[in-house]
Amino acid sequence: MEINELKIKYFVKSLNELSDYERNLLNIATEAAHKAYAPYSNFRVGAAVLLENGEIVSGNNQENAAFPSGLCAERVTVFYANAKYPDVAVNTLLITVLDENGDYRSEPIPPCGACRQVLTETESRQKKAMRVLLVGKDEVYEFDSASDLLPFIFTSNELKK
Ligand code: THU
Repeated sequence: MEINELKIKYFVKSLNELSDYERNLLNIATEAAHKAYAPYSNFRVGAAVLLENGEIVSGNNQENAAFPSGLCAERVTVFYANAKYPDVAVNTLLITVLDENGDYRSEPIPPCGACRQVLTETESRQKKAMRVLLVGKDEVYEFDSASDLLPFIFTSNELKK
């Protein structure tokens, strides 16, 4: 038997280390988080993507009384960006979350498994990695690629085998 280990590289920084464009994305994602429709969880997530054409698209989580019918902020945002600009790659995705008082939560929140699957397929589709920034009040995690968040990705290649 062999033991294999995987290493995932990510950067940890503080809010005041964000660059101007990252700060702008954070402001837009925060504005989106305030507009989330999250009456059931009170967990308001905001996301913003910077596209290769310089456009910024934002979104938030949308819940529903029939729980599985809702959608996470990340998928709302990336699907919206791909719907609006199908041929333009996502350069950076930033995600943040607000507590019940409208303040940033201390810890960054990682995207759920289904969102990771969608983000990695977006990377395959655009043939380019996207930077992912997970923003909390105390720490920001930065990944060079969404695929770093999802080892052993299921891709369309498996369907061909
Ligand atoms: N949620 C997101 O929007 N993004 C995530 O990555 C995790 C969870 C939403 C879904 C639901 O509206 C609420 O947060 C609680 O799970």
